[in-house]
Amino acid sequence: MGANRLDGKVCAAKVESSLSSRIRDLAERGSSPHLAVVIVGDDPASHVYVRSKERACERLGIRSTRIDLPAAASFDKVLATVESLNQDPDVDGILVQSPLPRGMDELAITDHILPEKDVDGFHPVNLGRLVQGRLDGLLPCTPAGVMYLLKFAELDLTGLKAVVLGRSRIVGMPMALLLAAKGADATVTVVHSRTTDIESHCRGADLIVAAVGRPEMVKAAWVKTGAIIVDVGINRVEDSSVKGYRLCGDVEEDANSVASYMTPVPGGVGPMTIAMLMSNTVRAAEMRKTS
Ligand code: GUN
Repeated sequence: MGANRLDGKVCAAKVESSLSSRIRDLAERGSSPHLAVVIVGDDPASHVYVRSKERACERLGIRSTRIDLPAAASFDKVLATVESLNQDPDVDGILVQSPLPRGMDELAITDHILPEKDVDGFHPVNLGRLVQGRLDGLLPCTPAGVMYLLKFAELDLTGLKAVVLGRSRIVGMPMALLLAAKGADATVTVVHSRTTDIESHCRGADLIVAAVGRPEMVKAAWVKTGAIIVDVGINRVEDSSVKGYRLCGDVEEDANSVASYMTPVPGGVGPMTIAMLMSNTVRAAEMRKTS
């Protein structure tokens, strides 16, 4: 039969349409939301992601400004760029695309973004609010998008055994917090590179969120019948049968035949990340206009 598809494109379109009227309201009050994206260097994947974010802004009538800095830009230059965006009253949201060039202190850059303009939700103030169980602020976009997608499918997570693979500050750790938060009420295990017997953790899971960036690491045979699979991975792998590359997730696609629900790759989590960024940008603009 195959798993039900957790369709991020359909769900993201719903988020975008619900944002339209809020953007109109802001525009009528003379303050259309404005997102500034800083990209340092020429990592091809990052440029593709940033372009998708700009296109979403264009679709929604959110103003966006992209600041391209060379890979050789100094830490002080990146910090000064963030500082000028902090000071600019016309900018509502600031995003510094990760990864930054090797050796640059990403956390220090994140710390410097004003929390109220931190549309990535990575600033310690915003992550701290999440740890406190306050879910009304600027939440990290990918985990927030996953939660929205699960809710959209009307899935009740109460008491489910959730396994999150990956412990990054961008996805894994905030994902675990959101799943365990009051209202979601899953029981969460975070699996990482030092975890022993990852397979048995996966076999016991009712919900797997895979965010490790390792192609097809989670085998279909590890997936319990009826489990829910959310695949955050988007990996480019060489494929001789198509004489080029193909995209795959962190979970084998065959898991589809045992799972109850599964996200496609692409078209699952990716569109939700962008929709949540748009949502955070609108929220940041609203908060700043009313404060
Ligand atoms: N790189 C990969 N995902 C993200 C994200 O959500 N935000 C930023 N700033 N960089 C990323």
